[in-house]
Formats: sequence, C-alpha cells, structure tokens
Amino acid sequence: MPLPTALNKSIKSLAKRLGYVVFHKSELDISEGCLLLRYKQNEYTPFGKKRLDNPKGVELLKKLLPVGYVLKQKQEIVVLKEGYHYVPDIYGKSANKLSDIREEETFFDLANAVYEQQTSCLYFDRLHVLYQAAGNVIRNAPPERRLNFIEVGVYKGGGTYFLASVAERLAKGRVQLFAVDTFSGHDKQDLPYGEEGKHNEQRFTDTAFESVQAYLKEFPNVAVLQGRIQDRAERLADLTFDLVHLDVDIYLPTLFSLRFFGERLNPGGIIIVDDYNYRTCPGIKQAIDEYLSETPFSFYKVELLSGQCLLIRR
Ligand SMILES: C[S@@+](CC[C@H](N)C(=O)[O-])C[C@H]1O[C@@H](n2cnc3c(N)ncnc32)[C@H](O)[C@@H]1O
Repeated sequence: MPLPTALNKSIKSLAKRLGYVVFHKSELDISEGCLLLRYKQNEYTPFGKKRLDNPKGVELLKKLLPVGYVLKQKQEIVVLKEGYHYVPDIYGKSANKLSDIREEETFFDLANAVYEQQTSCLYFDRLHVLYQAAGNVIRNAPPERRLNFIEVGVYKGGGTYFLASVAERLAKGRVQLFAVDTFSGHDKQDLPYGEEGKHNEQRFTDTAFESVQAYLKEFPNVAVLQGRIQDRAERLADLTFDLVHLDVDIYLPTLFSLRFFGERLNPGGIIIVDDYNYRTCPGIKQAIDEYLSETPFSFYKVELLSGQCLLIRR
C-alpha cells in the first residue's frame, strides 16, 4: 500500500529532521488509516530525545499537514491520522478489515483523481458509498435500460465528476447524470431561520457555474443546471431516477428533494443523503425523519458511520 500522495515529501523530510522515523512498508496502518511517525530513540540521532518536546518543531509539522490530517502526540509517538471520518477506536485496534477500500483498483483510480483535484468535500469513505450504490443500481438494471442519476449540491463538481467517471467505467453511455446547484452558495430563502448549523449565505460561494460546467465537459452525459433545486425541478419532472445524491447540508432543499425524487425513484433505486445526524447539519436528520413519517412510499433506511444515510426504495 503506497503512502497517500498527499503526504508529500516535505512532510516526510521535516519529520525526519525533527527526529521522527517514517516507517516504511508498515508505515500506513490500513485498518486505522494512520501513519505512525515514531520518534527516534537512538541516542546517536542528531536531535536527541528532547526534540520531542520542542513545541516549535511539532507546530511546524502541523502546519505542513495536508487537509484531512490531524496530528496527535502521545508520549514518544506522533500519530498522523488520515481522514475526516475514521472508525472510532472503540472497535478495537486489532479488529482489522482484510483490505482497505483504496486497494480496490477501479475505485481508487476514480476516487483518487477527484481527491487530487481537490474538487469535492467527500473523502474516500463517502465516495466509496457512492461507488457501491452506483454499482448496485447499474448491476440490477436490465442491460438495455438507461439510468438517471442526479447530484443536488455540487459545489466545485468533484462528487459529480466521480459519479460520472464511475458511470462511464461501469455502464458506458447508459447513464444520464444531472447536477444541480445555485453555484452561489445557500440561498436566503432556504435559510429562513438565519444560520442552520454552521451554514449561512457566505458558505460555498467560491465556485461558479461556468467553471464547473467546463470541468465536467469531458462527460457528454452530464447536464449541469444552475439554480435552487426547488426552481429547477420542473425540468426533471417527467423523469424517474435510479440514484440520487443529496448534499445540500440544510433542511428546506433536502426536504424538497426527498419529496420530489422519492416519488420518482425506481424500485431498488437509492437516495444517498450526506451529513445525516451531524451537529453541523441538523436540518438533514430533521428532513429525513419528517419525510419518512409522511411518505406513502416504502424505503429501507440505512444510517452509515460515514455520515451518510441511504434510503432504498422497495
Ligand atoms: C456541501 S456542498 C456540496 C458538496 C459536493 N457534493 C462535493 O462533492 O463537494 C453543498 C452545496 O449545496 C448547494 N445548495 C444549497 N442549497 C441549494 C439548493 N436549494 N439547491 C441547489 N443547491 C443548493 C450549495 O450551493 C453548495 O454548493
């Protein structure tokens, strides 16, 4: 298993200069997604033991960490934890899965492309859920049938790019993918109570319809629609869907989308809702719970540790 590319050379060399040994081969503990940098105990190392207590050195190291890493120091071991959503220690450090999702070649190729482009808020764990969901609906559809996928909440386009590349790899030419976003962040009308969690009108404004459209141009089956989903849904009213990814972070557009796409979801179709049961996005759980209590349709509901919730139409 190679080191994640994001853990770049400068970090490794600085870590070494500070007296940490970067383990080779076993350096990435796959089960925990950790990188262990063990402080050199050897008295002949140029830095000696006291370097460990050098807060400046550790601060410097922290500054160089790529997004998605945190640094924790425990006695002589510094643990670089990778990822936003790792499984808690309570499951046991020795309860290892047999493989890491990043060892799945197709998945890794496609997810890593988006990760390196830095165009998605989704990390490998959540992308893997999208990957599995897409694989399932594609596999279960008759080979001649065309499928419709949609992502609502696109931001810089990485999630859509990933879904498009998965669809191309697994079902070339058979999937039409829609991508809907205001491309100017949350709309005032969607935040009637001011801030929702950590959300306000200033978030997600550093993107643009034109640049996302250009980014996704290589996929002929992707249609990018600008505007609130509530205002663009009419264009989609005659369609049915197989996969819906809702990632808008707030209550009103999530509830609207659940109502709109819930009734247009084919049997066996999957709605993936991001940020379920998160303190930062309280409106998502509220919307799903409300929707499930009112809908006449039947869904399997699966809450995942990744922070996503699946609704699978029966
Ligand atoms: C968390 S970001 C989406 C992240 C994206 N899926 C990714 O892979 O990085 C949330 C997005 O939802 C969009 N959004 C919020 N309210 C919306 C609405 N009513 N209709 C469409 N998009 C909306 C915001 O503009 C923002 O770009």
